Amino acid sequence: MSRQPSQQDESPVEPGFASYIGEVFGRQDEFMDSLMPRAREAGLPDIALSADAGRTLHLLARMTGAGRGPSLALELGTLAGYSGIWIARALAPGGRLLTIEPEPAHAAFARRAFDEAGVGDAVEIIAEPALDALPGLRAELGDASLDLVFLDAIKTEYPDYYELCAPMVKPGGLLIADNVLTSDWRITDAPGSDERRDAVDRFNRAVASDDRFFAICDPIRAGMLVALRR
Ligand SMILES: C[S@@+](CC[C@H](N)C(=O)[O-])C[C@H]1O[C@@H](n2cnc3c(N)ncnc32)[C@H](O)[C@@H]1O
Repeated sequence: MSRQPSQQDESPVEPGFASYIGEVFGRQDEFMDSLMPRAREAGLPDIALSADAGRTLHLLARMTGAGRGPSLALELGTLAGYSGIWIARALAPGGRLLTIEPEPAHAAFARRAFDEAGVGDAVEIIAEPALDALPGLRAELGDASLDLVFLDAIKTEYPDYYELCAPMVKPGGLLIADNVLTSDWRITDAPGSDERRDAVDRFNRAVASDDRFFAICDPIRAGMLVALRR
């Protein structure tokens, strides 16, 4: 087990607190410790969740499916498989994770990572842009089919992901989104200053005012929206 510092420069939380959270709560095993350094060496960008945010995602996932974990989970934006492994390790027995990643090098690295992590049989990578894949997935899986949806792909597309994914979340299921407060923009910047900021702001406000969900914003790392489907 080791502890990883949170990504302080990105965190909306006072840097000292972000650092403390990473040091004390960012525990992970050696495989997860080595995954993003290996991904960086392979040329993938260093934009995965931090360990403390990964643990948050894992904990939330475990609480779905009446405490058994998700039977069916969907992730948008696989990268190296780091967040996907945190989700896959929370799956209910026989559960599945579908994760969408159109970049071939990312998908190939993640495929190996899922297999090495011992969760490969439970994970399917869909190698298409999310907006191309989602209508077909919705037709195939149906509404109220997912225990967990994790959004972490293109920030300007968050409002569209929401429209397509919200009906697919089961009552009692969770919709979670990363980077809802910051990335290389901040949500408190002026409207119109960055199209990603504006799209995420629209997304946040849409979820927060949607009576189908009970939503909160956890300021961990770059801000994580967590919404429970009523
Ligand atoms: C922030 S990274 C995901 C990080 C990952 N969730 C983690 O924490 O380990 C975003 C990923 O979305 C992928 N991506 C880019 N365009 C996409 C699209 N249209 N649909 C789905 N994923 C996309 C990128 O290639 C990248 O791997």
